[in-house]
Amino acid sequence: MSRLTIALLPGDGIGPEVVAEGARVLRAVAERWKHEIELREGLIGGCALDARDTPLPPETIELCRSADAVLLGAVGGPRWDNPAARQRPEQGLLGLRRELQVYANLRPVKVHPSLAVASPLRAERLEGVDFVVVRELTGGIYFGDKRREQLPHGGERAIDECVYTTSEIERVTRVAAQLARTRRRKLTSVDKANVLETSRLWRSTVTRVLRDEFPDVALDHLLVDACAMQLLRDPRGFDVIVTENMFGDILTDEASMLAGSLGVLPSASLGDDVEGQRARRGLYEPIHGSAPDIAGRGIANPVGTILSVALMLRHSFGLEQEARAVEQAVAATIDRGCVTADIAPCGARSYSTADVGGAIAEALTSISRQVHSRA
Ligand code: IPM
Ligand code: MG
Repeated sequence: MSRLTIALLPGDGIGPEVVAEGARVLRAVAERWKHEIELREGLIGGCALDARDTPLPPETIELCRSADAVLLGAVGGPRWDNPAARQRPEQGLLGLRRELQVYANLRPVKVHPSLAVASPLRAERLEGVDFVVVRELTGGIYFGDKRREQLPHGGERAIDECVYTTSEIERVTRVAAQLARTRRRKLTSVDKANVLETSRLWRSTVTRVLRDEFPDVALDHLLVDACAMQLLRDPRGFDVIVTENMFGDILTDEASMLAGSLGVLPSASLGDDVEGQRARRGLYEPIHGSAPDIAGRGIANPVGTILSVALMLRHSFGLEQEARAVEQAVAATIDRGCVTADIAPCGARSYSTADVGGAIAEALTSISRQVHSRA
């Protein structure tokens, strides 16, 4: 039996709806596998701005630091979109990633066979697609200096600095190469080395780390524009992709279309192992945003969040059997057509967020029975 202390940060828009289903699945896992679980909620993003006048209240940081893992929904929405605002909901999320030092963001892309029809790509291109994007998460243009200057003869100048250090590149490369070792031993590093200085440092650093520490992993380099094309032309060719913060953000939204919907992709953001602690601190979130257009209607897809729970069980708690059971429960529920509108085949019935979450929790019960009777 393990004791799992998890911070829940539902956030804005559809965040609360999908996190409720993630929590339901966590409770189901705890019950079926006899773990003790403690879920503690906190505020982040726009709702925190409203209630506490900051997108990342200090008590939320404290809550996340004292938990073994964090499950987050989404932040942002049109209510807080005023470009002149001093504070934005997104600063809460970026601040939390930075506070927790979760520099490696794993975004697995796997095409579930019965969802191939939901993808705008032809089904035969999608068979067997299975790769992971490792996105650097706490550096680059997201965190560089940002400023605006008035020009003497009118108009303004806006500056976003993009900064990377050798050690920031080394540590995320190691996470990606380790992961490749557990898979097909193929790593693709994505940059824009023909234009950007940070990309030239990126490329030479990745090359050196692989040569010195991972000679058994095959490395190739792709420019980000070519990668965007290759993701649609031959997605099966990828195993592990490692890339900087903004390229990773953009490429994974593109990649989600292979899997049928932005709503089905999970992510795990990991830092270093904490010495003496069993759990590796992690922040888990679906890759989709707050989807304000459908918020509150009970139709958001909870699969990205529930698969993020599976990643949490695997990476933060080392509970591989439970993680697989959650993934199987999701697959079984999709296979029997219990899906939300974003992935329901044309003309087929679609189900609510809570229906799908409930069906996955139920499927988990029968899977846990099989697992326990085999043991
Ligand atoms: C993501 C999101 C965030 C990002 C936004 C909400 C700041 O798009 O997690 O991919 O750009 O990192
Ligand atoms: Mg994004």
